[in-house]
Amino acid sequence: MFIENKVAIITGGASGIGFSYATELLANGLKAVTLADTDDVKGNEAVAIISKDFSPEKVLFVKTDVTQKDQLENAFKRTVETFGNLDLVVNNAGIMVEDVWEKMLAINVTATIYGCLLAMEEYFPKYKSGKETVIVNISSIVGLQGTSILPMYTASKHAVIGLSRSLGTPDQYESTQTKVVTICPGPTDTPLMQDLVNKSFNERYADLTRNLLNNYTIELQKTDIVPKCLVKAIEEGENGSIWVVENDEIYDIEMPTRQEMKKKTDIVPKCLVKAIEEGENGSIWVVENDEIYDIEMPTRQEMKKK
Ligand SMILES: NC(=O)c1ccc[n+]([C@@H]2O[C@H](COP(=O)([O-])OP(=O)(O)OC[C@H]3O[C@@H](n4cnc5c(N)ncnc54)[C@H](O)[C@@H]3O)[C@@H](O)[C@H]2O)c1
Repeated sequence: MFIENKVAIITGGASGIGFSYATELLANGLKAVTLADTDDVKGNEAVAIISKDFSPEKVLFVKTDVTQKDQLENAFKRTVETFGNLDLVVNNAGIMVEDVWEKMLAINVTATIYGCLLAMEEYFPKYKSGKETVIVNISSIVGLQGTSILPMYTASKHAVIGLSRSLGTPDQYESTQTKVVTICPGPTDTPLMQDLVNKSFNERYADLTRNLLNNYTIELQKTDIVPKCLVKAIEEGENGSIWVVENDEIYDIEMPTRQEMKKKTDIVPKCLVKAIEEGENGSIWVVENDEIYDIEMPTRQEMKKK
């Protein structure tokens, strides 16, 4: 078991899914966890629960705004000062508020990148307790599909997948011994999923959101299932693997190549003109090796590993 006796940092770990990651990892033998979160009220509550259910020596709360590099770095520093090692980083802090999209990108993307860099370049090499280390980046099922009502959040979660797939390549692993995996939760019952209309970018998006909610019921899974996926991904996931947990089901997916996604259609001479004149809304066009084609993004279900 990788998790046993290891030390972890979870950003956004004071509440929501992040807190359930902490307790599940501890239940699976984790030595200690740092919860790096802006919310010190929830942070102190989380420490009290973990102290009671496990032991006070197993948890540290560090008030951290992940968008502030010095604060994120301080969480890493405090972790190794307190627990001696660092083996696992879960870049989980995230928000879904389209009307503050620049802040959202800073939390969901920039801080995730910085968390990976701090871990891989500075702290893992010096403080890991075993040969291998693990980074888990938290994306979303909308990291694998377009979403009309949440374009900026969706972009942020696509970015997390691109980052993880790049850092999770074999040559990266060979030089760092860090396994990088991604988790894509489906809709889960936390405050993030509440009040969606008021988190819209503007009134037009609020209308689109109201319309969608009127015609479609979003089924929310309970938070408990998501940390089971975390443990599976850490223990069984290959480097670079992407895991979905939705509707209480956990599975890993295989990303198709561009060629596999190629749409069966006539080749045309000018990609830009063809895309503008004929491309469907949301269509994606590739032009390479003197060839032009548009692609069909598979659904998660089609990507599901057999
Ligand atoms: N809930 C869902 O349906 C769902 C689905 C897919 C992905 N996710 C992702 O899972 C992660 C956790 O989401 P959640 O549902 O638990 O959200 P949540 O809102 O319940 O909890 C988020 C936690 O992050 C903390 N946080 C927010 N901004 C921060 C910052 N700048 N620095 C440090 N901590 C900060 C909050 O204080 C809170 O403790 C997010 O990355 C989210 O995008 C959630």
